Amino acid sequence: MSEIIDGFSKLSKEEKVKIICDKYFKNSNASIKTIKDYWNKNSKIQKLHDEFTENTISNFYMPLSIAPNFLIDGEFLAIPMVIEESSVVAAAASSAKFWSNKGGFKTKIFSTEKVGHVHFEFEGKKKILIDFFNSVKDKLLESTSSITKNMKKRGGGITSADLIDKSFELRNYYQIEVKFETIDSMGANFINSCLEQIAETLKKLASNADLKIDVIMSILSNYVPMCIVESSVSCSIDEIGVEFANKFIKAVEIANSDVSRAVTHNKGIMNGVDAVVIATGNDFRAVAAGVHAYAAKDGKYKSLSKAEIINDTFKFSIRLPLALGTVGGLTNLHPLVKWCHELLGNPNAKKLMSCVASTGLAQNFAAVKSLITTGIQKGHMKMHLLNILNQLDANEKEKNLTVKFFKDKKISYHDVANFIKNLRLK
Ligand code: MEV
Repeated sequence: MSEIIDGFSKLSKEEKVKIICDKYFKNSNASIKTIKDYWNKNSKIQKLHDEFTENTISNFYMPLSIAPNFLIDGEFLAIPMVIEESSVVAAAASSAKFWSNKGGFKTKIFSTEKVGHVHFEFEGKKKILIDFFNSVKDKLLESTSSITKNMKKRGGGITSADLIDKSFELRNYYQIEVKFETIDSMGANFINSCLEQIAETLKKLASNADLKIDVIMSILSNYVPMCIVESSVSCSIDEIGVEFANKFIKAVEIANSDVSRAVTHNKGIMNGVDAVVIATGNDFRAVAAGVHAYAAKDGKYKSLSKAEIINDTFKFSIRLPLALGTVGGLTNLHPLVKWCHELLGNPNAKKLMSCVASTGLAQNFAAVKSLITTGIQKGHMKMHLLNILNQLDANEKEKNLTVKFFKDKKISYHDVANFIKNLRLK
């Protein structure tokens, strides 16, 4: 039998499930049941989810949690977080509460510009290309007018277009770098449509002028160092303790000087960032790619956060490049995403940037605080205990007894399993 599954996308959902479970599972019926157990009983909701992507066979649950008590720019918010890792939400919540009576998180948006490129090759004298670009630039932009019409009405659109010489890096390689303001939408479709139109017009005009321009591709960039939000917390050094503050600053300095530590330090930040980005229906892969590139912007991968003491004030801050949307995409389509936006007061993109950056900072504060005091495992394993108990199929009584027993003890899977085993023997 051929290994190729022909015409898979054309099959019904039932057929897809059956063909996959029969082919790849020892117990086909049990695996079909697992898949179907996660189908939503509400056919309208199920259809909606089926149509988000292709070849859908079921739903994949992630917990939606709330981190309350976030005071951000003077407003108390409950932050929605979608994440599977134990202790992340608890850490964010405890950090939020800690800073809530110290002025909370203060944020600042530096700019919200996004960028994309038409990447092309040109064979010939650079001066000829520059003159040609300058002579056709208006036409290139005019050709996007039907695409930019609505965005312009909302105050956005194309803000600049420049010819960039990259030929010293790669033979004959040039770009048209186009910058965009996309207001409250992330703008990926808008940007890519504009770029593809500019590329088409460029090809046509170049051919009319007998110039050898070869367009390679046209695409937005997920590197958005001009779309920056800063979030910070601060308090007097006495409130937090001199010894703690100095150790905290040292821990951040280590993340600045050592790449291995920087990656883990920033991963802690992304625990918070990604969870809110997913809950609000934004593209977490784009955010992660852009944020990590930004962490390496000085030629070395460094901490995204900064801790310092200025005139007896401890200040902890973060700057993140975040291209987020609060309209378009999943925001109006996914009922839970819509719910999360409403929870945040239907924010515009700038406010969402503030919420995401503050959650990342809160997460980082909690992680570094644990690391330099109790160690990370104490809190983490306490939260993870329930997962261990569920893996061991513990009933409510067993769970209560185990939680009580391990209240003041170190938790490990081995010790919990032994404890449950002994309980069951009794
Ligand atoms: C775990 O998900 C995140 C931490 O490793 C972050 C850090 O080390 O700063 C605790």
